[in-house]
Amino acid sequence: MTAVSELPPHTRQQSYRQRSYLMCRPDYFAVSYAINPWMHPEVAVDRQLAISQWESLRQTYVSLGHRVETIRPEPGLPDMVFAANGALVIDGVAYGASFRHPERRPEANAYLTWMGTNGIDRTVEANFTNEGEGDFLLVGEMLLAGTGFRTDPAAHREAQQLFGRPVISLQLVDPHYYHLDTALAVLGDDLIAYLPSAFSPESQRLLGCLFPDAVIASEADAAVFGLNAVCDGQHVVLPRQAEGLAVQLAARGFDPVGVDLSELLKAGGSVKCCTLELRT
Ligand code: ARG
Repeated sequence: MTAVSELPPHTRQQSYRQRSYLMCRPDYFAVSYAINPWMHPEVAVDRQLAISQWESLRQTYVSLGHRVETIRPEPGLPDMVFAANGALVIDGVAYGASFRHPERRPEANAYLTWMGTNGIDRTVEANFTNEGEGDFLLVGEMLLAGTGFRTDPAAHREAQQLFGRPVISLQLVDPHYYHLDTALAVLGDDLIAYLPSAFSPESQRLLGCLFPDAVIASEADAAVFGLNAVCDGQHVVLPRQAEGLAVQLAARGFDPVGVDLSELLKAGGSVKCCTLELRT
């Protein structure tokens, strides 16, 4: 195996770091409403299969050496499995979510209450609509922030103030990629993968300028939620169906780890959506 330091600069720069993740078992998972184009309430969902697929994701993280905490799922909140939307946690501070759609609003309090009672130093209620790590992604010292479908740009400014880090606003334009984490994956402190067509021309220029060496995903890999991936510095856990992206990542020095979350994709979510990083 090649040492990280021997790789050319457009490849993996960081090395593995153990992470803490929060997840929520899909005990009440269902597609009972449609708030994104992937959701079709008339299509049957196999909840048992969703649970076993979710368990294998959790097991994958554990086997990679990460800590996984879980929050108790609540009846009547079928999307609560998508923990990434529950908050944004950096330096022991949890910035609470405030959901765009009324169907998901009660999740915000459930997640913030969990943070307050599970060792997060400070919890802050949001004044503006935002869907946590669905639309906020930490890359090195800066936050990339999506808007267009869910998160209000006013929340970008609120997060910048709260965390004292620069926030780069990015305009999402394709309703299939309604959250930033469906169109962009963080691979390191200065490396990302993304689908350019999910962003406005201005945001594409911005991304090209900030990340000239980014991995550019194909439409086909993005459509199976390949960019909804979680990287620990070495491994990239991503939907198994994103085969082309896995090859691209391996060429950059990463170890892709494919998992099958096909049942959760019926609600428009995959690996990253199920995973909230706890940076304590
Ligand atoms: N059905 C959920 C919604 O539309 C899916 C959320 C996916 N989460 C994510 N982090 N992209 O809100």
